[in-house]
Amino acid sequence: MKFCILMGSPRREGNTAAVLRPFLEECAAMEVETETIWLYDKKIDPCLGCGTCQDRLKELGCVQEDDFEEIFRSMAACDALIFATPIYSWYCTPPMKVLMDRAIYAGVKNYGRERGPKLLEGRRAATLTTCGYPPERGADLWEEGVRRWCRHGNVEYLGILCRRDWGGTEPFLNEDREQAARDFAQALRMAIRAEEL
Ligand SMILES: Cc1cc2nc3c(=O)[nH]c(=O)nc-3n(C[C@H](O)[C@H](O)[C@H](O)COP(=O)(O)O)c2cc1C
Repeated sequence: MKFCILMGSPRREGNTAAVLRPFLEECAAMEVETETIWLYDKKIDPCLGCGTCQDRLKELGCVQEDDFEEIFRSMAACDALIFATPIYSWYCTPPMKVLMDRAIYAGVKNYGRERGPKLLEGRRAATLTTCGYPPERGADLWEEGVRRWCRHGNVEYLGILCRRDWGGTEPFLNEDREQAARDFAQALRMAIRAEEL
């Protein structure tokens, strides 16, 4: 089993990275393979909406030459995508949004002369999120966006783990949060295992 973690925080030592760490440790303990892609290290240009990809049915078919295709290959080769992001303006961070735009457009051949495949079909997705507001008001729009992104791409949505940044002097990660991240990793693995049995 393999998880592809799309890491959308610009902060290597930030809150999202702090929750991701025990999540990854638990994956390793369960022998779930992981690949973490730090999106701020990558060149992912915005979708131009040119539509060229829609008539290129057997490939991703994007006209832009950047890191998108390589990232998409990792996305297509895993069992579950983990969208790890802080909330910025009630949604994910910019490189994550750009990646999702490109993946849901070039990856779903609905709008060309003839309909083609959904290239991420059969994958699953979950999100690991941190935000400043209470999660139900900070991450609700983002979660709904991920749900719809998944539905459009025939990707199964598995759930969210969101923890709030209180902004105080206490460390973001405490024992409870660390355990929640480990439990989330276990729950995702169990959900996938149950489907495969
Ligand atoms: C530019 C910016 C925009 C933000 N927008 C929101 C927001 O709309 N809603 C929210 O709940 N928190 C918002 N936050 C708070 C962050 O989501 C929160 O501090 C998060 O834990 C930061 O994660 P990081 O340390 O991984 O960067 C924002 C923070 C920044 C820097």
